[in-house]
Amino acid sequence: MSIDLREHWWIGDVEIPGRVVLAPMAGVSVQAFRRQGRRYGAGLVCSEMFSVAGIQHRNERTLGYLRVSADEHPLAIQIFGSDPAAMAEAARMVEAAGADVVDINFGCPVRKVTKTGAGASLLDDPDHAARIVESVATATPLPVSVKMRRGTENESRAALGVGRRLVEAGASTLTLHPRSAKQMYTGTADHAVTAELVELVDVPVIASGDITSRAKAQAVLATTGAAAVMVGRAAQGNPWAIAEILGDAGEPTREEVVAELLLFMRETVRELGEQRATSFLKKFYGWYLGRGRFPRPFKQELVTLPTLDEVELRLLAAAPGARDVLERLEAERPDPQNEVLLDSLPISIYGGG
Ligand SMILES: Cc1cc2nc3c(=O)[nH]c(=O)nc-3n(C[C@H](O)[C@H](O)[C@H](O)COP(=O)(O)O)c2cc1C
Repeated sequence: MSIDLREHWWIGDVEIPGRVVLAPMAGVSVQAFRRQGRRYGAGLVCSEMFSVAGIQHRNERTLGYLRVSADEHPLAIQIFGSDPAAMAEAARMVEAAGADVVDINFGCPVRKVTKTGAGASLLDDPDHAARIVESVATATPLPVSVKMRRGTENESRAALGVGRRLVEAGASTLTLHPRSAKQMYTGTADHAVTAELVELVDVPVIASGDITSRAKAQAVLATTGAAAVMVGRAAQGNPWAIAEILGDAGEPTREEVVAELLLFMRETVRELGEQRATSFLKKFYGWYLGRGRFPRPFKQELVTLPTLDEVELRLLAAAPGARDVLERLEAERPDPQNEVLLDSLPISIYGGG
């Protein structure tokens, strides 16, 4: 029997309208990505990780902004750092920005982050990890979630002991990506560990890692008892993966693919400015147009075009019908009214989890 992926569930007192969560991904999870994810049925979307170091070192280069708009709720904003007081201050800023959930990153395996005592390195220091969660949970009325790897070393089961401590310290939800930090993205996510975590804690657990299809999502939910699955790489340039997992879509037409890419480009320019968007978007061309949707030389050509206007013209020439689809998408899109701009926390460009 299949599990209803549209079933609502709760993180603290925040109602989550569906059991597919869009993963936080540094360099990917901009507002345009999150809004698109909600539109395709994700029950919860997450920002990429923000460094709280920026609070203490205000001279640190601001690498990005966080915009929160009305149509992306419920939204988790993710922070990382190692100082409990700075994390608490960041949590209050995140609350002011309009987040529904504060998410803490204890999963980032990148050395630049772990060497500062943040990210996955906290899995080796449960006392300090618990202090951080307690400090954040005390600072804000928002529910706090924590995203973890299984541990730092291969085969580690650290997340089990740490996870229990974090719930005692005030975490309302745990997300587990059951690879070790050392593994980075190699091997497979071992959701047997997720099942053990679900048994150990009495808060909802989100299963992250290798959820690429409806069949995989159903299998992981059934075998782990997790409250939700998180989808990351499969949704890069591919919101149709979320719809497929929810059970409603077939493959998009070429016109739909181009229209979604064009909308994404326009929103990203608004969000990041033309210059940053131009380089940010390059990786998305392959993601959208790959999967056999367009020939490879076409993707390569787009990357070499000097301006986004030229990319847009070239895309519309390849799929003229996309213009109508795009108009419809833009008309359906609510105006980003009451948008909140949070610009004092640097987004990490080194992220991961
Ligand atoms: C490019 C990229 C950036 C990521 N950035 C973050 C991040 O900022 N915070 C985080 O908790 N996890 C991050 N992750 C990990 C994902 O959220 C997710 O746990 C992981 O990719 C496994 O899920 P998947 O197999 O569905 O991709 C990142 C992953 C990728 C591929």
